[in-house]
Formats: sequence, C-alpha cells, structure tokens
Amino acid sequence: MSEPHVLLLGAPGAGKGTQSKRLADAFDIEHVTTGDALRANKDMDIGHMDTAYDTPRAYMEAGELVPDAVVNEIVKTALDSANGYVLDGYPRNLEQAEYLSEITDLDVAVFLDVSEPELVERLTGRRVCDECGANYHVEFNPPEEAGVCDECGGDLIQRDDDTEETVRERLRVYRENTAPVVEHYREEGVLVEVDGEGTPDEVFEAIREEVDAAT
Ligand code: AP5
Repeated sequence: MSEPHVLLLGAPGAGKGTQSKRLADAFDIEHVTTGDALRANKDMDIGHMDTAYDTPRAYMEAGELVPDAVVNEIVKTALDSANGYVLDGYPRNLEQAEYLSEITDLDVAVFLDVSEPELVERLTGRRVCDECGANYHVEFNPPEEAGVCDECGGDLIQRDDDTEETVRERLRVYRENTAPVVEHYREEGVLVEVDGEGTPDEVFEAIREEVDAAT
C-alpha cells in the first residue's frame, strides 16, 4: 500500500504545524512545510527570479506571499524524495494548487476550521524555540519555565510575523488568496472539514480518522 498523501489547509494559526508534526510521526511520513523551509532560507538571494524583493525575508516580514517560483521549487524537491507526506502551508493560491496537481495526487485535503478571534489570540501568543523549532503558547501550551524550551533548553522567541499588525495582514492575504484554494478542493471532492477549536489531542484524533478513511 502506498503511504498517505495528505494536505492540511487552514488560516494562519489554525494549527497546521502542530497537527502536521503529529501526523508525520503517527503515519511515518514526511512533513513538508513551505513556512519552515522559507524561514530556514530567509536571506536566500532570489533577485535573479525577477521578484519585487531580493529575499524571502522581505515578503514574510510584510505578511505577503513569497513568489510562486520559489515555493514551487521547494515543494517539488521535497515531494520528489517522499513516499508519503503531509503538506503544510502550500498551496496558498490557485496557481500553486494547479502546479501541485501536475506533480502529485492527493488522498485527502483536510481543512482546519478556526474562528478569526481565536486565530489572532493563538498567533500573538505563540512562542517558538530558536534551537529546535518546538511550538508553545503563552497561555494554551506554556513551557514549564517561561522563555525556555522543555525539549532542548533553547530560548523561546516570538516569530517576526506574529505581531498583531502582521497577523492581520496575513489573515487578509489568506482570505484573498488561500480561501479560494479550499473551495477548489471542495469542488474536486477531496476536501474534509475538521473543527480546529478542540484541544490539540481532539483535533488530532479527528484528522487521523479522516486520513484513515481516505487511505
Ligand atoms: P507559515 O509558517 O506556513 O505560516 P502560516 O500558514 O501563517 O501558519 P502558521 O505557522 O502561522 O500557523 P499554523 O496553522 O501552523 O499554526 P500552529 O500549529 O503554529 O508561513 C509563513 C510565511 O511564509 C507566510 O506568511 C508567507 O510569507 C510565506 N509562505 C509560506 N508558504 C508559502 C507559500 N506556499 N506561498 C507563498 N508564501 C509562503 O499553531 C499556532 C499557535 O496556536 C501555537 O502557539 C500553538 O501552540 C497554538 N495551537 C495550535 N493548536 C491549538 C489548539 N487546538 N488549541 C489551542 N492552541 C493551539
């Protein structure tokens, strides 16, 4: 049997990163995330691609999408070497969705449904380990010692794009560009919706059931 091909969709802060890591562990598949890949290559020179800015950093700090050519290449390289995968943060517009359909087939696209006030609260309270990337929330998922990672003892920092102003812009970009992607997969018949407002464990169980049912 081939490994699951799963797409996780949702607004910024819906829990895609949190749930993708768990799915990747549970099904022993690759976690492919354009957000982490871009954060690891923020200062890569993309000026030769005829882009408005010369680095991914400039787009990300403004809450804008990084150009398709950059992220399409990241995803193609990652999927070429993966059997099963959970894709997180891509596609973010219809052009990326079209490209994805040329390079792979999906078993299921899971949409995590979370209200906007909850999204803002989650993102502005998120803290991330600058050593190992583990995710926390100052209120919903605090570390044992404030500012210190439980996993590796690294420093917990706020992402540059988690300030309230940039979060609002990311949500606007999501509504304009990525919400149509959700409708696209609904029309294709591969979309399932999961209530993303339960506890992380509850949300995970709901996603796992959908993936089991689809594969
Ligand atoms: P990216 O890193 O993909 O950011 P995002 O989609 O905005 O998603 P987030 O990582 O912010 O949220 P998430 O849904 O993963 O939530 P998380 O699990 O962390 O992209 C960043 C930027 O890169 C973009 O703005 C863009 O510039 C660029 N980019 C990336 N992909 C691109 C693409 N394809 N095309 C163009 N540009 C691209 O959870 C959030 C918080 O909530 C955490 O604190 C967590 O602890 C908490 N939490 C999670 N689940 C729960 C729960 N059930 N209950 C309570 N709290 C919870």
